[in-house]
Amino acid sequence: MGTTTRTQVGIVGGGPAGLLLGQLLYRQGIDTVILEQRGRQHVEGRIRAGVLEQGTVDLLHEAGVGGRLARDGLVHHGFDIAIDGVRHRIDLAGPTGGKSVTVYGQTEVTKDLIAARLDAGAPLVFEAEAVTPLDLDGDTPRLRYTKDGVSHELVCDVIAGCDGYHGVCRQTVPADVLRVYERVYPFGWLGILAEVPPVSHELIYANHPDGFALASMRSPTRSRYYIQCPLDTRIEDWPDDRIWEQLRNRFGADAGEAMATGPSIEKSVAPLRSFVAEPMRHGRLFLAGDAAHIVPPTGAKGLNLAAADVRLLSWALVDFFKNADTAGIDGYSEACLRRVWKVQRFSWWFSAQLHRYDEGDGFTRRLQLAELAYLIGSDAARTSLAENYVGLPFERPGAG
Ligand code: APR
Ligand code: PHB
Repeated sequence: MGTTTRTQVGIVGGGPAGLLLGQLLYRQGIDTVILEQRGRQHVEGRIRAGVLEQGTVDLLHEAGVGGRLARDGLVHHGFDIAIDGVRHRIDLAGPTGGKSVTVYGQTEVTKDLIAARLDAGAPLVFEAEAVTPLDLDGDTPRLRYTKDGVSHELVCDVIAGCDGYHGVCRQTVPADVLRVYERVYPFGWLGILAEVPPVSHELIYANHPDGFALASMRSPTRSRYYIQCPLDTRIEDWPDDRIWEQLRNRFGADAGEAMATGPSIEKSVAPLRSFVAEPMRHGRLFLAGDAAHIVPPTGAKGLNLAAADVRLLSWALVDFFKNADTAGIDGYSEACLRRVWKVQRFSWWFSAQLHRYDEGDGFTRRLQLAELAYLIGSDAARTSLAENYVGLPFERPGAG
């Protein structure tokens, strides 16, 4: 048997949720240990989404990791929706009193958080294997894990399950307690990263008869694109030229002609899913981020929803450890789920308006075109889209 150590919060998962929670609690003097099953290079190499709500940006600054974000982040006050190649701008700032989003890759957020954690000398165990939560119903839950073949035990006051959709923590909630809700979409996204200038200074979401497409970016010289693809898509069937051809086709003539193309530096296919696990707390286990919920990437909400959970959980744990106040942890799950389901609704709605659904008679597409026509012509509809896209306000659990 290896070491047995003590900490206040054992965090399972060193992705954005676990790292951000660890950083916020560290700055409050609360002891944490982060156990991450993969190596640092793998975690930092993941290519994920890249749109941050203002609330997420503010939280990263509060966590003390906003330096590169402030320098390299691209602030956007709107985006385009291309309907059969005709582009319509959706203003974000006007309807929301000046709010914006910031384009900054999740990869960079993760690198910033890992660097801060290591600079602080706070415990971050990479390649922690066979992490096993124990005694969640008691006051001293434990995390058993193996590192370099040696078994260790972490005795905690609280465990934060930040281990993503495929993690272990959600599985430890008793089957008669856990409720899950899930929809799997009948298509996926094929994403490509290329060192070419973006086709537009803002994002373009495209509804096209051949399928959805999205033009995003990582910097003024690096573009991120997605096209809707069949679920059984094999990446080897999609050479770069075929992807660029589809992108040109789905964004319409103007963007298609202006689009710079080049060799992909990353190419991958991902399924789309809506998923919620309730409750997000069981005893001394608190779930946050993808461990508790998955949204389709259309609304760019995955990272932002994880940050919102972490915002509430960090408030709750500070109150618990510093003031012996349990209102925050007792209200955590319900407060998170109120936001989670609103964001699920938005992400489902936005996905439903933009993707091609093959049910043969064209009814759905005509509904989509009617919905988009209404959206383009209605200040109320545009405001609803804008306020969801920039991010809903935070609710502090137990704040009365
Ligand atoms: N033990 C330890 N670590 C684990 C385990 C385990 N059993 N299972 C998973 N992990 C790690 C994964 O390797 C990953 O680094 O937990 C981390 C979970 O990170 P994410 O899946 O990124 O989830 P989260 O931190 O909630 O961030 C959500 O990430 O995947 C995107 O689209 C998602 O943008 C969203 C964001
Ligand atoms: C991205 O840049 O990866 C991105 C942007 C907006 C989305 C989804 C993904 O809605």
